[in-house]
Amino acid sequence: MRFARAGAAVVAHARHSDVSALVADITAAGGRATEAHADLADEHACRRLVREAAEWGGRLDAVVNNAGVQPVRGLAGMTVAQWREVVDFNLTSAFGCTQAAAEVLPPGGSVTHVASIEGRHPAAGHAHYSASKAALIMHARSAALEYGPRGIRVNTVSPGLIDRPGLAEDWPDGVDRWTRAAPLGRLGQPEDVGDACVFLASPMASWITGNDLVVDGGITARPTW
Ligand SMILES: NC(=O)c1ccc[n+]([C@@H]2O[C@H](COP(=O)([O-])OP(=O)(O)OC[C@H]3O[C@@H](n4cnc5c(N)ncnc54)[C@H](OP(=O)(O)O)[C@@H]3O)[C@@H](O)[C@H]2O)c1
Repeated sequence: MRFARAGAAVVAHARHSDVSALVADITAAGGRATEAHADLADEHACRRLVREAAEWGGRLDAVVNNAGVQPVRGLAGMTVAQWREVVDFNLTSAFGCTQAAAEVLPPGGSVTHVASIEGRHPAAGHAHYSASKAALIMHARSAALEYGPRGIRVNTVSPGLIDRPGLAEDWPDGVDRWTRAAPLGRLGQPEDVGDACVFLASPMASWITGNDLVVDGGITARPTW
């Protein structure tokens, strides 16, 4: 929605979820959008999604690798399959989509991965998740090096805790701790992340690449002592 408001034609992707309401909202507001479905753990699906997006729009200017899963599971007893699923969905999906996108992005094009503050600050039960997000940050920096000479920028946005319906009921203790600890005193909203992604994709960020933009209300600025 934030990209559409900034004037972009948007391909809204999910694996299975119905995103037709988002497409309808954008269209009703006078924008242009379509929906696409693909399991991004499959590299061929990444390529197909990128190709379909470029064909639909006539060109592809910006990709946001936002797909990810966040299961909570302790290391003791975690199976290799459970580890791999998180790495495949959070990290390998971004590798596949970025590689495919770089073949069609023009100079000035950009890729933004949605990482997490957990890429730098571990949380119990999230070893697989934190490791995948740390790797995502480093993948973006590496890709910025390799694609920079072609004018393609690659960055990450690292959100803190983002609000969703039911979060305060599901995790009252966590939400309470967060809002008391965060300098700005509130949870993030999806729009906070969307705006950061729009900024990084825009000409206003044309000299920013290989960077990690932390969007967390200041929580990681807190001293740890
Ligand atoms: N929520 C937070 O507080 C928070 C904080 C920091 C970072 N993040 C990151 O922000 C991103 C979005 O999080 P969210 O909370 O909005 O999660 P969400 O509501 O669960 O949405 C995740 C999206 O990823 C898609 N997805 C997952 N696995 C996929 C796969 N293998 N192939 C294709 N699509 C796949 C899902 O599609 P389906 O619904 O069709 O399965 C869904 O559209 C994630 O990368 C997450 O790690 C979230």
